[in-house]
Amino acid sequence: MKTGKNATATVIVIFGGTGDLAKRKLIPAFYNLFIDGWMPENFVIYGLGRTELTDKAYQDHLYQGLKEFSRKGTPKKSDWEKFKGSLHYLTSNINDQGSYTELLKTIEPYEKQWGERANRLFYLSISPRFIETLSLHLRDSGLATIKEKDRIIIEKPFGYDKASAVELNKKLTATFDEDQIFRIDHYLGKETVQNILAFRFANALFEPLWNRNYIDSVQITVAEQVGVEDRGGYYEGSGALRDMIQNHLLQILCMVAMEPPASFDAEEIRSRKYDVLRSIRRIKPEEVHHYAVRGQYSSGWIKGQKVVGYREENEVDKKSNTETYAAIKFYLDNWRWQNVPFYLRTGKRMQEKTSSITIQFKPVPHASFPTNQIDSIMPNRLTINIQPQMDILLRFMTKRPGLEMNLNPSEMIFNYDNCSTQTPEAYETLLLDAMVGDTTLFMRSDQIEEAWDVISTILEAWDKRESIDFPNYQAGSWGPENAEALIAREGHVWAVNKHSNETDKK
Ligand code: BG6
Repeated sequence: MKTGKNATATVIVIFGGTGDLAKRKLIPAFYNLFIDGWMPENFVIYGLGRTELTDKAYQDHLYQGLKEFSRKGTPKKSDWEKFKGSLHYLTSNINDQGSYTELLKTIEPYEKQWGERANRLFYLSISPRFIETLSLHLRDSGLATIKEKDRIIIEKPFGYDKASAVELNKKLTATFDEDQIFRIDHYLGKETVQNILAFRFANALFEPLWNRNYIDSVQITVAEQVGVEDRGGYYEGSGALRDMIQNHLLQILCMVAMEPPASFDAEEIRSRKYDVLRSIRRIKPEEVHHYAVRGQYSSGWIKGQKVVGYREENEVDKKSNTETYAAIKFYLDNWRWQNVPFYLRTGKRMQEKTSSITIQFKPVPHASFPTNQIDSIMPNRLTINIQPQMDILLRFMTKRPGLEMNLNPSEMIFNYDNCSTQTPEAYETLLLDAMVGDTTLFMRSDQIEEAWDVISTILEAWDKRESIDFPNYQAGSWGPENAEALIAREGHVWAVNKHSNETDKK
């Protein structure tokens, strides 16, 4: 959430530098920041990994990634030539203190040449089991010594449950202060997610309505068409609840439900989000089946292609109990949201790729229209489409032109395509924020722990009890039938899998 360019010289070190994330997301993000003039004048990026590679081979590898994954497409030759001069590779072993000493020796000459001790940014794109060792080595080798200048960025998963997250936080704080730790949730860097704050707190219009008196229910859907791709091994130990709900969906819920912050200070915003997590009513073990539904996809069709079921994916147990779909109903125990259901759902191999938030308003208190028109009054609805469609839609009733009083739902639309500038990728925003030391869009330790706490009874119930009906939804569908039943109890239907005007409760 920066407001200006980052001027301080910066050394960026990517542990896991040969991995997919560096190629698909990190380097394209740094490159785009460079092209758009956001990188400091003096910077260098070091990719670290066990493989022996020359700088040239590393640069070529990353160039392929840029061609394939950068939003700006194939780099211009002259731009790439300028950028690649700052891109280097160092063979290293996370467990070996010698590798850290060598890294320090490698970066010090740059700092000498720049005439300043650079900010040092350590990006951990590695298995969580190495985090403790790595952070201790960073401290002991003298690489991370200045609190104001040295920062560590950590990819998810952050822990496996509440206890492991608490443990990890404890270990990290042996080397780093909380404001040096940047726990990434890439959903918070998405333009449309950040816009929720602007939409809510830069407009006077919606705030008076943003509560239990006017809002009937909230839905948050993150549906993916992809399956587990080549991540079966990771996903088997995770599942949709840990992979998506604990972080991305709960963070979106926080943005929708938080109280107005007193300022845009990072701690203030993070504290208001923390308040939301604390207010989520904990689901008792015996109530889990009433509030949560899990699913696993079978084979089916996606975009006209036959795809295999989850249990047939690579590195997946043939009898796997891992959920690839989760839907949960939450209530928030506070004044603003008492009795307003928040329905969250996410799934892989769903019919469409779509992420959206639906705010369903209550019906009008009295319909003073001719009887034959009363049934056509749809309650107001606000839809915030996060991706791939990026827009905000407000539905309201109008009179259909003609001699009679016929009512018709209409929509007001704000579409991001109408903005002249290209939307930055989430990682561009987040990496720049980390470079300037702004923690607003990163998860604080207490938020992470609280988010684990919110889902802990569901995690335990699902880990303990095998699901007898898996697989229970077809690839290419909208998930298991039970998920429809979950929200039908209060008379609701999922908003995004139906035509926008035929769905909701009146
Ligand atoms: C990641 C999950 O955090 O988010 C993946 O581990 C998921 O399983 C991905 O596919 C979705 O991100 P996006 O930005 O494509 O919606």
